Amino acid sequence: MNARGDVNNNILQWVVNQADKGTFDDIDMANMCRNMLGAGSETTANAMAWTMSFLVSKPSTLITLRKELDDAFRGSSQKPLPLETLKRLPYLDAVLHEALRLRSVASQVWRESEKDTELSVRDDEGNLKTFIIPAGTMAYIPIAAVQTSLKVLFGANEFYPERWLSDSGKDTEEEVFQF
Ligand code: HEM
Repeated sequence: MNARGDVNNNILQWVVNQADKGTFDDIDMANMCRNMLGAGSETTANAMAWTMSFLVSKPSTLITLRKELDDAFRGSSQKPLPLETLKRLPYLDAVLHEALRLRSVASQVWRESEKDTELSVRDDEGNLKTFIIPAGTMAYIPIAAVQTSLKVLFGANEFYPERWLSDSGKDTEEEVFQF
């Protein structure tokens, strides 16, 4: 709890608390607010909107997810559900992964190679090909293209959250990209 009696249970409150403690100055505060508006709000708002849109278009998925959430709410005294509980809901996790896979709100990232780098990949026939990427090369990583590639995933154009679940119903560790 901070000096004003507010409970520190969200990221914005945490930032305000740092200012109260003197850990952040005005410039830090401005940067944090820019981050949250630019990097934080649009991304999460788009992710939520696309997830809702997929759920509405696939009622069987919506019913399964509602059941998992109803059970979690019934089993918890805390509302909203704490992050630790949410992390243990495999179907919710799979639904969010699948929505972000099909509609990646950050559709690309770039990386610059710091040193000459050897990269080996297999072509469509399975032959290994080696490329040298010189230091200073900018590499464009097309997240959206890879995540929806039929070469990478079976039924890649379909909204199918079950692809992220193992046979036991637990979520898998598989991720094409972190986001
Ligand atoms: C669905 C939600 C989100 C998605 C899909 C997303 C996606 C991404 C991606 C792809 C990157 C670039 C990573 C890279 O180049 O390696 C990134 C960076 C970043 N994101 Fe997010 N993001 C999300 C939510 C948020 C939220 C809620 C915040 C803050 C409250 C945030 C803050 C940042 C910051 C500060 C960076 C830069 C990190 C760095 O340069 O080290 N993001 N995000």
